[in-house]
Amino acid sequence: MSTLSCPYCGYHLELEEVFQENQFGTNYAIANCECSRYPITEGILVLHRGHNIEGAIEFLAKKQFTEALLTLLVMPLTKSSKLIWLLEKMNIPFCNKLDLICKKKIYRPLFKDPELSFFEIIDQLKWRRFSGDYFKYRFSHLDFIGDRALIHLLMNSERVQKPVLDICCGVGHHAFLISKYVPTKNIVCADRSFVSLYLAKRFFAKNANFICLDANVYLPFENNYFSSIFCLDAFYYITPKRLLANEFKRIMNLDGILLLSTLPNSLETGRKWIWGGEALMPKGYLGLFNGLEVRLLPQEKLVQDYLIRDELNLEKTCSEAEVNSSPFIFLVATRNKRDFKVYKNFSRELFERVCQNLILNPIYERRERGNEIYLTKDLSKNHAVFPNLKYMSEKCEIKKELLKLAEKGSIAKSELDKVYDLWKRFVLIDVPENYVKVSESLQL
Ligand SMILES: C[S@@+](CC[C@H](N)C(=O)[O-])C[C@H]1O[C@@H](n2cnc3c(N)ncnc32)[C@H](O)[C@@H]1O
Repeated sequence: MSTLSCPYCGYHLELEEVFQENQFGTNYAIANCECSRYPITEGILVLHRGHNIEGAIEFLAKKQFTEALLTLLVMPLTKSSKLIWLLEKMNIPFCNKLDLICKKKIYRPLFKDPELSFFEIIDQLKWRRFSGDYFKYRFSHLDFIGDRALIHLLMNSERVQKPVLDICCGVGHHAFLISKYVPTKNIVCADRSFVSLYLAKRFFAKNANFICLDANVYLPFENNYFSSIFCLDAFYYITPKRLLANEFKRIMNLDGILLLSTLPNSLETGRKWIWGGEALMPKGYLGLFNGLEVRLLPQEKLVQDYLIRDELNLEKTCSEAEVNSSPFIFLVATRNKRDFKVYKNFSRELFERVCQNLILNPIYERRERGNEIYLTKDLSKNHAVFPNLKYMSEKCEIKKELLKLAEKGSIAKSELDKVYDLWKRFVLIDVPENYVKVSESLQL
């Protein structure tokens, strides 16, 4: 807290009153600065003024923690969230009561059963189909694969000791990945959606630091604080891109690294990006990061180089024609060129780093016969909207015993090559605990 300042008045944030602490730190509290008071609820500091901050503070002051939590939980983009939003706007006692009753019903899956898996919660919350599926199958997306390769290469032995920011982190898939390199207490997860942060904390990075903020305004972090900054599949949502780019430069330390992924290229996608936000031209993105060493990498080429050639070339700048014709771009920026070299044969090392909790990719339909499990890529669900699954096998089979060992993380050396091959083809994926239920993942 001592290192944070209010994004609006710039004063240091201080703890005004702490109501509850747990093994992860401050769980319920009120923080303040010169201009405002902010709630900390379930360990998440809420600075984003789109949430009902005052309502939550009122409940905290009365030590009504569940009510404070419910006040902040607002599902993005659902019909029920619109109703709740209307009730909150009215801000009269009867509507506030009704609001809490509705929320208790809608968010029951979040509290009802601590055993519920991530998949079950997303389904029970009836998270709008696209967003829900996006988060359920995130580990198999093309851009996630590119992020994973770059995170592995950029997390050098010095950076892993220092604070890392995952901004616009969603429900925390990347924070989970980053936690394989960096102690979770050094990771800061930030997003404007309180519900997403709540899920990130519950499933993906329990021990991390969580801040609900709006990346359209100044960030609450001090200068040179982070060694690594990730803003993945999200920068297009930000309207004042120049402001956020300058904030990244301000909070990144001298040896820091910045990764932005899935930047839509307006030359290919048009200026209005279909999932919301605005796209820029490659040279527009470059211009934002003047003063830093920058590499723009065409997304498809990046993933192909990694998956097929097991190589990434950050030494050379890609040709303008190559970058301009790529619909999506990754941007890596740093203040020194040390990271910009050719990396070869790192995929196996990456696999060995992440392979603790492997499960069958839920994208596959499974049939069991004898000792074998037969898998077929399931295109009936919403997966088809993500054009990234072409690197997965259409069909394949796996022996039950091998799966059992892979899931337990006790793979014999002689079997490691087979498991590695299945992981490379996305048949096996590494996930946090309780990501899918035993029956869903076919854990044996
Ligand atoms: C497409 S999701 C990507 C999530 C995550 N980075 C990933 O790659 O899985 C975009 C995320 O950006 C967040 N976001 C959008 N605008 C934001 C803003 N102004 N401030 C903070 N977060 C924002 C959304 O809430 C959402 O979680």
